Amino acid sequence: MNENEINAFLEQINYPRLNRNIVELKLVESIKTDNKHLEIVLSIHDDAMFEQTSQAIENSSLKEHFETIDVLKKQAVARKSMNYGSTATPNNRAKYAKKVIAVTSGKGGVGKSTVSANLSVCLAQEGYKVGLLDADIYGPNIPRLLGVEKEKMRWNDNNKIVPSENFGIKIMSVALTTPKEDTPLVWRSSVAVSALIQFLEDVDWGELDFLVIDMPPGTGDVQLTMAQELPLCAAVLVTTPQQVALDDVSRAIMMFKDIGVPIGGLVENMSYFVAPDTKKRYDIFGNGAGKELCKKYNIPFLGDIPLEPVIREMCDTGKVVSALGNEELKAHYKVITANLFKSL
Ligand SMILES: Nc1ncnc2c1ncn2[C@@H]1O[C@H](COP(=O)(O)OP(=O)(O)OP(=O)(O)O)[C@@H](O)[C@H]1O
Ligand SMILES: [Mg+2]
Repeated sequence: MNENEINAFLEQINYPRLNRNIVELKLVESIKTDNKHLEIVLSIHDDAMFEQTSQAIENSSLKEHFETIDVLKKQAVARKSMNYGSTATPNNRAKYAKKVIAVTSGKGGVGKSTVSANLSVCLAQEGYKVGLLDADIYGPNIPRLLGVEKEKMRWNDNNKIVPSENFGIKIMSVALTTPKEDTPLVWRSSVAVSALIQFLEDVDWGELDFLVIDMPPGTGDVQLTMAQELPLCAAVLVTTPQQVALDDVSRAIMMFKDIGVPIGGLVENMSYFVAPDTKKRYDIFGNGAGKELCKKYNIPFLGDIPLEPVIREMCDTGKVVSALGNEELKAHYKVITANLFKSL
């Protein structure tokens, strides 16, 4: 039995509780056989999931074709160095990118994805080759913000994933892999992290000047894995000015400082609101807190963005503000991009 035939058997084996098979999820690391003995290495890091999957393989009809079947667990690079603080010498899974920027926050919903999309487009407008990776596996919004939410993942002849493209940037998101826009991904974090690593390694990004990563909120597995698997040249932190968001972004600042990721600076989003009729400015969430935080932690303040219904409307309809917005709105993102360059 050759490797392709064995693969066909493995395609019958689903990852526990998921409707997707282990070959499709790229969890089969290697297959070795001398026609009597079969050795399969799986890159499943979770013990319980590994046990269930290996039993399913051992009990499958493959056993009729081999004297012995050994299912082994890949010694995971990410797992071995998973201890907090061991990011001093990260891997480089994105050698095709000159610089990798992570856009992140402490709290959810503060505007990371909006900032990632606009920053990426601003960089492309400057003539750089830019890729944008949506690392928010459970809430992947990047395709909608960039108007490619109807596209589906494609593979090229070299077995590489073809990224979507719009506004001059290459885009990859787990949302492009699901059958429908509202299909939820109920994945353990080890699978989510494996999917992201696959996006780093198997997407045909080409040569990039910048790979921008839109992170999920918080200080968790994905942030740590990205810091271990990529030489991040800057973390861009996004916050809104109210205290709860500032508390959370402070934790994120401390985490990135602890694990040695340079902080590119802070963006204060939804800073203030200018009434369209009277032009009066309202500091809805308070004033000046973002700048104060930057002083406290000695990090650059990259700029602010007002709370502006047009931004929300344009996001919902995939019209990136820094490409299609009015000059006044575009200017906010241009300032942020220019300031980021100073701190890179
Ligand atoms: N400056 C702004 N003015 C008005 N609406 C905004 C602004 N920035 C972001 N929004 C809107 O706020 C919502 C949240 O923004 P976004 O998705 O970028 O946040 P996020 O931090 O990525 O969220 P999550 O943590 O869920 O990933 C979106 O509907 C977006 O259109
Ligand atoms: Mg987001």
